[in-house]
Amino acid sequence: MANENSQAPIPREVPCGGLRIGDVAPDFAARSTTGEIRLSEFRGRWLILFSHPADFTPVCTTEFVALAQSANEFEKRDCALMALSVDSLFSHFAWLRLIRDRYDVEVRFPIVEDPTLVIGRAYGMVAPQDNDSATVRTTFFIDPQGVIRALTCYPANVGRSTPEMLRMLDALQAVDDGPVLAPANWRPGEALLSQPDASLETVFSAKGQTDWFMKETRGGSKK
Ligand code: BEZ
Repeated sequence: MANENSQAPIPREVPCGGLRIGDVAPDFAARSTTGEIRLSEFRGRWLILFSHPADFTPVCTTEFVALAQSANEFEKRDCALMALSVDSLFSHFAWLRLIRDRYDVEVRFPIVEDPTLVIGRAYGMVAPQDNDSATVRTTFFIDPQGVIRALTCYPANVGRSTPEMLRMLDALQAVDDGPVLAPANWRPGEALLSQPDASLETVFSAKGQTDWFMKETRGGSKK
């Protein structure tokens, strides 16, 4: 399908299907580049679980180089990374070796193999009746209790932004103690917003026009 104003075909891909913010992330056990792992073993830490379409592809390679280069930033935030694709464990190994040799960076976070797509389907990373088994670029931000707190879905032809992933994680952690809100473009150290008080008294007694619903606060942040 093509947009009438654009030259490039618009890829028809899955929505971030199946799971929603607030759902418990489905548990699974699988082989990975760091050994046998179980998702529930990551409880107690934040976890970013993300899928990529395929090993040995250009955009995915740039994502893995960027994430591996920022691994200490995720570590500082007590957040583990876990990647997943349909490719075999030995494909993952060969790709990581190539990334190490070519880009001088070692990907040390686990990459899960999902040859039967049982995990990809549970997470809505692939369309239910799609002939193409590639997982799209879904990213699940999972809190220390194992609950999905945010999810994003990028098409195969656009790579994710590591700074935005870190910003999302910072914002989720900052509002975690509640009841505070992270405004647009919020960065650690900047003011958060208070949860508006839903009472007519507050609305009519507020001095400024927006004071009853727009109030900055420094509270709630762990940072
Ligand atoms: C890539 O990572 O470059 C890619 C993966 C699948 C389809 C298109 C591009």
